[in-house]
Amino acid sequence: MNANGSERGLWSSKMGFILAGAGSAIGLGNIWRFPAVAGQNGGAAFIAIYLASIVLVCLSVMIAELSLGRHTQKNPVGMYNTLAPGSKWKYLGLLGVLTGWGISSFYSVVAGWTLGYIVKTATGVFSTLDSDQITQEFLNFVSNPVAAIGFHAAFMAITMLILFGGVRAGIERWSKILMPILLGILVLLVIRSVTLPGAEKGLAFLMQPKWDELTGRGVLAAVGQAFFSLSLGMGTMITYGSYLAKKENIVSSAVWIASLDTLIALLAGLAIFPALFAMNLEPTIGAGLIFIVLPNIFNKIFLGQLFGTGFFVLLGIAAVTSLISIVEVPAAYFIDERKWSRKKAVWVSGIGAFIAGLPAALSLGAVDWLTNLMTIEGRNYGFLDLMNLLFGQYSLIIGSLGVAVFVGWKWGTANANSEIREGNPDFKQAKTFGFFIRFFAPIAITGLLIYLLLNPNAFA
Ligand code: PHE
Repeated sequence: MNANGSERGLWSSKMGFILAGAGSAIGLGNIWRFPAVAGQNGGAAFIAIYLASIVLVCLSVMIAELSLGRHTQKNPVGMYNTLAPGSKWKYLGLLGVLTGWGISSFYSVVAGWTLGYIVKTATGVFSTLDSDQITQEFLNFVSNPVAAIGFHAAFMAITMLILFGGVRAGIERWSKILMPILLGILVLLVIRSVTLPGAEKGLAFLMQPKWDELTGRGVLAAVGQAFFSLSLGMGTMITYGSYLAKKENIVSSAVWIASLDTLIALLAGLAIFPALFAMNLEPTIGAGLIFIVLPNIFNKIFLGQLFGTGFFVLLGIAAVTSLISIVEVPAAYFIDERKWSRKKAVWVSGIGAFIAGLPAALSLGAVDWLTNLMTIEGRNYGFLDLMNLLFGQYSLIIGSLGVAVFVGWKWGTANANSEIREGNPDFKQAKTFGFFIRFFAPIAITGLLIYLLLNPNAFA
């Protein structure tokens, strides 16, 4: 129980909320996933679409999710049940709860790698290795079933411990001091990376779009990455909004969170790609990208071992503050809808996510069929890649489309506006918000999905 008299909670201040929201948004999505998908989809043109999605689609979806959450004070299922009782909308909420498990399963596995990398970097494992040996070290590490499952378990346990503490004591406190330090080390990495001999090729990759190489699938991946990075489409921002006080300004909070998140992703891109090209590595490596490129950079930096260890510690922390916001969605569902105690809800959500992550943990070489699950258009997908695609992309796109249609056409922008005005009496951008949430976002997302259905080979 807390001051609110329930198992729910409230952020202590606007700053606390922005940091918790940014803590959710900033994580593996920015530093691990963004460079990996940008690299696989050609770089600059992908990044342009990603940035456009943030401004034109994601911002209004984030404002919509926060308003829905604060208005109803509920998890996504409870929110749809409150605003559209007895309708089928609740299934979209349930999809969000399911997506929470889907994403946390692979998220915790990759976050577990950061724990392994803290130990490896601190003990100097990489310092005598060349670029090929660093790649081999990564492959050996992730294909070791004991390490993969052990670190996944450890990471999920840390996440659950924080979640037992609840919203303010648990989530908010952790986000407060650590994010600025992460930013500092990232800037340092960027400086080193862009000054390596041969870095220009990486800068060109990031800044000179090759539009003719952009495929329909690349566009979809960019839109999906924007939702993933901003924690949209599965109800995280609905749930976090439900802990937000009425006097806070939803619009400026959303702009802050989106800006910080985008800044970190772009810095991660600037840290990774110049170094990658300087070392003659391929941008399309996929899930291992940062774990292969970064140790190479640390080897070329003064006090690299120290900065490297610090970096993986902070990346692990950034991942925890995101993972708690993912597992919090099923937990809040159990607390609100099933009237469970926070403790029981966190146990069940966390253990469920751990079990769902076992095949992902074994899908990087430990178990052959999980590693080579299927080939789609010439690219190999293991279990982790598949979960990442299904839940980290398609589910979030569908969930976000649902939120836009729901706020724009069912709940109505008039209701959304009056919720937003509670903490922002002028809300000068009401018309713009209405246009984007009613027309632009739904039409753009549906148009893209229809285009892909009609042109299956746009996936090639
Ligand atoms: N935004 C988080 C990240 O970038 C991941 C996330 C996705 C969190 C969906 C919540 C919901 O790491």
